[in-house]
This record gives sequence, C-alpha cells and structure tokens, in this order.
Amino acid sequence: MLLFSPYQLGQLKLTNRIVMAPLTRSRAIGNQPNELMATYYSQRAGAGVIISEGIAPSPNGLGYARIPGLFSNEQVEGWKRVTNAVHNEGGKIFAQLMHTGRMSHPVNMPAGSTIIAPSAISAGMEMRTDQGMQPLPVPEEMSLSDITQTQTEYIKAAMLAMEAGFDGVEIHGANGYLPEQFLSPYSNVRNDDYGGNIENRCRFVLELAEKVGQSIGFDRAGIRLSPYGVHGGMKYYPELDETYIHLSQGLESLGHLYIHLVDHSGLGAPEVPWRIKTAIRKQFSRILILSGGYTKDKAEKDLASGTADLIAFGKPFINNPDLVKRMENNWPLSDNLDPSTFYSSGEKGYTDWPTFN
Ligand SMILES: Cc1cc2nc3c(=O)[nH]c(=O)nc-3n(C[C@H](O)[C@H](O)[C@H](O)COP(=O)(O)O)c2cc1C
Repeated sequence: MLLFSPYQLGQLKLTNRIVMAPLTRSRAIGNQPNELMATYYSQRAGAGVIISEGIAPSPNGLGYARIPGLFSNEQVEGWKRVTNAVHNEGGKIFAQLMHTGRMSHPVNMPAGSTIIAPSAISAGMEMRTDQGMQPLPVPEEMSLSDITQTQTEYIKAAMLAMEAGFDGVEIHGANGYLPEQFLSPYSNVRNDDYGGNIENRCRFVLELAEKVGQSIGFDRAGIRLSPYGVHGGMKYYPELDETYIHLSQGLESLGHLYIHLVDHSGLGAPEVPWRIKTAIRKQFSRILILSGGYTKDKAEKDLASGTADLIAFGKPFINNPDLVKRMENNWPLSDNLDPSTFYSSGEKGYTDWPTFN
C-alpha cells in the first residue's frame, strides 16, 4: 500500500506517508516542554513525520493554558529531550509554530504578555482556562512595529527549533489563530498594507512564510491552512477561494516545502469543497498534506488518486500510539477516546494508552 511506502519530504526520508497531525495536549507546565512530553512523542515515532502540538513563538502567543513555547534557552533544552527521544525511535518531528493572537485569555497567559491581533475585534466566544470557560477579550490592534516584531519572533523560534533538533517547522496558518486572523475580512478590517484587499490580507502570512523559509531553508518549512474552517470564529466570505489561491501561488513562488490542509467537517465545519483543494493542488507544485477524519482506506484512496502526497491523522494517534503498526497489520484501533483528558494534566489519557502488542 502507498500509505506504508517511503516518501521524500525535502531532505528527509520518511518511512511511511502517515503524518501525526498537530495536537495541543496542554501538558507543558510553565510553558516548558518536559520528560512526559518526550515519552508521549517517542511513543508515536512510528509516524512518517510528527507535527508537534502548537508551540508559541513568544509569550504573546501563549493563549491557552499549559501550551509550550520556544523562545527561551530552557525551552530549547526541553525540546532537545523531545526531538532526541523521537529520533532515537527512528522518527522525524516538525515544530508547529502557533501564535494564538486574539484566541488568547489573560488567565492562561504569563505576566507581561499582550493579546494582539490585526484588528480590535473579539472572536466573540468563550475559551477554556484553568478557571473554567471565560469570554475572550477584545485584542489590541497590532501596530506596524508589532507586525515586524511578531514576524521576528517567528524567525527566532524557527531558528531555535533547528537548534533544538527539529527536522523542520510548520507555520500554523489554520484554525483561526493569528495568521488566519490576518486572512479573514471578519477579523482583519485594517486599511493599511495588511488589510483591505486579498493581496494585503495575505501579506502577513506570505511575509512570514518568506522570512521563516529564508532563516531555516524553504525545504524545511511548511504551512497549515484551513479554508472553510470555522474554528476561532472564522466564517465564509465571498473572496475566500481567491484568497487561498493567491496564498498558494505566493507559497509556490517562495518554494515552500508543503501545504497542509485541514478539513474539520467532522467537527461541524462545512466540508472543504473539492474545488478549492483542487485549485490549491494546481497552483502549488510541491507537497500537499491532507487531514481531517481520515481512515486507512480513505487515506489510501486519496494517495492513489494523487489528491494528496501525505495524510495526517490526529485523534487516532491519541489513543493508538502504535497507529501505523496497527493499520499496517490490520490490527483493531482503540475506539475509547476520552475528550476529558485531551487538555488535562499528567499521564492519564496521554502516555498510558497501550500498544496493541
Ligand atoms: C485535542 C486536539 C488538539 C488539537 N491541537 C491542534 C494544534 O495544536 N494545531 C493544529 O493545527 N490542529 C490541532 N488540532 C486539529 C488536528 O490536528 C486535526 O486537524 C483534527 O483533529 C482533525 O483530524 P482527525 O480527524 O484525524 O482527528 C487538534 C485537535 C484535537 C482533537
């Protein structure tokens, strides 16, 4: 089967075409990667490549409770333990850089951080915190120097990711976080070079992609996007398809390694129409990763038809650390996923899922 065949991802030789999708698990006490996380990732090193949980490039991006960062020496040392543990098991791992922007609550964030976004528009929803669900505040509108400063934070984090032993970096441009907040006219009503028309709304993301690619090499830099996604208060707008076509053309000319598309239709979002998936595939000649609701059979079908090059699995990796082996050997998958432990602390529901044998 194609799913279990090797694949060349830039300079990396993957042993199979299964990607572990990024999964925030909120085990990083003090925003610091730790030994428990190293164990969790090494248990899942059978994936062709793991995309880490969202990692904040700066304190301003730490919008959720107990998510990890990558801006201090201590965090670099912590991540080294994670990447070493994965590499020791023969796996590969990319760092997903996630800046939460307006999807941030002060209760979750360290002292001195600021909630910033392209425009002062709240996501208009509640967010989980360790003090229960809380309404999201109105963010501060980013000045032009905030924009440059934030992009510099991503560059530094990408370089620290290399120092920490990651095999590459994925910019989290999906699910309503800071980069997507620039893309959508609902969260971006700026009237400078970063808002208004399609080109301007895409500018922050394309500049970011260029700067990150230049700092670590374009063959190590990917991006995750979620056209038609509704996470984080995102919604449909008439120029949506055109926006993503412009974006993929820009990523194509930069030479980005991959686009990773999210389909959250299983989670209540509308299905990403084939039309936009096909248009992106046409504009972007390099690697396309698809994710969202995949089973082994559906994955094989999309690889065989050339719709995707790699397939990412999210939730199935939570309760099946040996997912690849189970699928390869037709062993049954665990089906007792426990959402109450998705973002809790400690080993329960995290590192205590057994392998099949
Ligand atoms: C607990 C949990 C945490 C997630 N965290 C992230 C994240 O940090 N970054 C991201 O891009 N997507 C995140 N996602 C979305 C997943 O990567 C994936 O797109 C989604 O679960 C759908 O794929 P699946 O049907 O294979 O689970 C998360 C999903 C879940 C269930």
